[in-house]
Amino acid sequence: MKGLILSGGKGSRLYPLTFTSAKQLIPVANKPILFRVIEAVKEAGINEIGIVVGVGSNARQIREAVGRGGRWDVEITFIEQAEPLGLAHAVKTAEDFLGDDPFVMFLGDNVIEGGISKLIGEFAHNEWNSQIVLTRIPNPQQYGVADLADDGTIRRLVEKPKVPPSDLALVGIYMFDKNIHKATHAIKPSWRGELEITDAIQWLIDNGYGVHPYVHRGWWIDTGQPGDMLEANDLVLEELDYTIEGYIDRDSQVGRRVKVERGAEVINSVIRGPAIIGENTRIINSYVGPFTAIYHNVTLENAEIEHSMVLEHSTIRDIEARIQDSLIGRNVTIERSPIKPKSLKFTLGDNSQLGIL
Ligand code: DAU
Repeated sequence: MKGLILSGGKGSRLYPLTFTSAKQLIPVANKPILFRVIEAVKEAGINEIGIVVGVGSNARQIREAVGRGGRWDVEITFIEQAEPLGLAHAVKTAEDFLGDDPFVMFLGDNVIEGGISKLIGEFAHNEWNSQIVLTRIPNPQQYGVADLADDGTIRRLVEKPKVPPSDLALVGIYMFDKNIHKATHAIKPSWRGELEITDAIQWLIDNGYGVHPYVHRGWWIDTGQPGDMLEANDLVLEELDYTIEGYIDRDSQVGRRVKVERGAEVINSVIRGPAIIGENTRIINSYVGPFTAIYHNVTLENAEIEHSMVLEHSTIRDIEARIQDSLIGRNVTIERSPIKPKSLKFTLGDNSQLGIL
């Protein structure tokens, strides 16, 4: 069995964070989402993994960050998709890599509780042509949605329906045998101009192939929107163990579910878990509250922050108000300015969002 991870696309819903970097590389609890996906695929016993990437600088960053897969002891093949023309188009693009082998396709921006080993095991021991993963969510309009018959079989799948036929959303994890290639060649682009994997699976059902629906009961997050990113961060941080690899001085207090990574320093500060402090980050005279992930090489001095994410090389200094529910990108500086007049001074990228007291 092979693995196919989809990391093309533009990530426009996460602008401005994804103007300059790929959304799949944004760290959730200090680990890029894509790395979590690779680990889940490897854990299921799959060593041959294709990663679909676009063209341009985001794709280059993904190639550089992942390398050839030695870190996970897997073999990575990059597959270039010239334009993000849909998930089924990505499968078509990967045909040479996939050959006639069965494969699991995992969207590179999804985070799921509990991994996929059990799912892969079931697929391998059954005669199904495909297995899809569903989960119950209150408003599934922005996802693929399944309509199941009373006997549990799939009646219909619809992509982003205005009026969803059920509350069962399609999770971005799919298992296929070689018959999916017939489907991706048979379908036509949807109203949004994409070759939809949902339509390809519907084609399998309409043509008598066996598609098994698995209903996932743990948490699942599609990290498409900034709020989802914080939520994914919360869920993963919940699973954190106490690990101190960095330095904590005697004047600091560090709670139970806190991870302080290599080279990090905590000086005269309070860290209340679950929280993670990244490599070479310095926390000085500050408070870091629950559900916060501070990534590598950040400086936090005379500041308070809670339920937030801060990406690498950012500085937050001398801020009186507590920062909360915030997603702060790379190389950001937030500090008090001595320059008169006393006013708010910003340099913000396009599509930034700022809440002022
Ligand atoms: O997250 C689950 C949902 O994913 C499903 O419920 C939907 O049925 C499915 O169509 C998909 O919907 P999205 O609109 O959320 O997909 P998105 O465009 O965000 O792409 C998902 C991932 O696939 C993302 O990491 C980018 C990558 N991608 C996307 C396209 C359109 C590619 O690699 N190539 C592409 O052509």
